[in-house]
Amino acid sequence: MNLIFLGAPGAGKGTLANMLSKEYNIPQISTGDLFRAAVKEGSELGKQVQGIMEKGELVPDSLTIELVRERLAKPDAGDGYILDGFPRTIAQADALAGFQKIDGVIDFSISDELVIRRLSGRRVCRSCGAIYHVDNMPPKEEGKCDRCGAELYIRDDDKIDSIKNRLRVYKEQTEPLIAYYRDKGLLREIDSSQSPQNSLEQIKNILE
Ligand code: AP5
Ligand code: MG
Repeated sequence: MNLIFLGAPGAGKGTLANMLSKEYNIPQISTGDLFRAAVKEGSELGKQVQGIMEKGELVPDSLTIELVRERLAKPDAGDGYILDGFPRTIAQADALAGFQKIDGVIDFSISDELVIRRLSGRRVCRSCGAIYHVDNMPPKEEGKCDRCGAELYIRDDDKIDSIKNRLRVYKEQTEPLIAYYRDKGLLREIDSSQSPQNSLEQIKNILE
């Protein structure tokens, strides 16, 4: 099952991709996570993308497409995967169609107000990447990851100016993918304003 999770920043793609990947035993492939790992490593790619990500702009298509092409060539992606945050432009979607067959696209529908509330309360584990929210999904111990005990941090792009820019960029460059995949008969929509468990049930109903 080759799936794409599409939706605004903060819609819950990462949270649900993690839940579903465990349930179906297929990898979650998040371009945002791959870029953040490159920044953390201080690699050449990391240096190229750090400033772009902090501002909430998109990394150039050529770099992003190459990264995904390499990642999808790894053996663990052979039995299916969840693409979380890719594609984000028509050019990326066209390129993907050239080397992969996509089975379904889930669009996470949510209001801008809720996005801002979710992103301004998000906390992420520095070590394992687990996602929390100070009100909706707090860790058992403040500032510490339930899974691995490492420190939680606020992403550099979860500042209000960057959040607003990400929403603008999403509307301009990524939202057109809704019509793109609807035209191909691949798009299914979920209401992402409820609890993560509720979103998971909606997705499983679609897939099963
Ligand atoms: P990326 O990391 O993909 O960020 P994003 O798209 O802005 O999405 P987020 O990760 O912010 O949100 P999410 O939908 O995963 O929500 P989450 O589950 O965390 O990309 C970062 C940057 O990398 C981009 O800006 C760009 O620069 C670059 N990049 C990445 N991909 C690229 C591409 N293809 N092309 C070019 N550049 C690219 O949830 C958010 C919060 O809400 C959390 O606190 C969570 O606990 C909470 N929450 C989630 N679901 C629920 C729920 N149902 N109920 C209550 N709370 C919830
Ligand atoms: Mg995410």
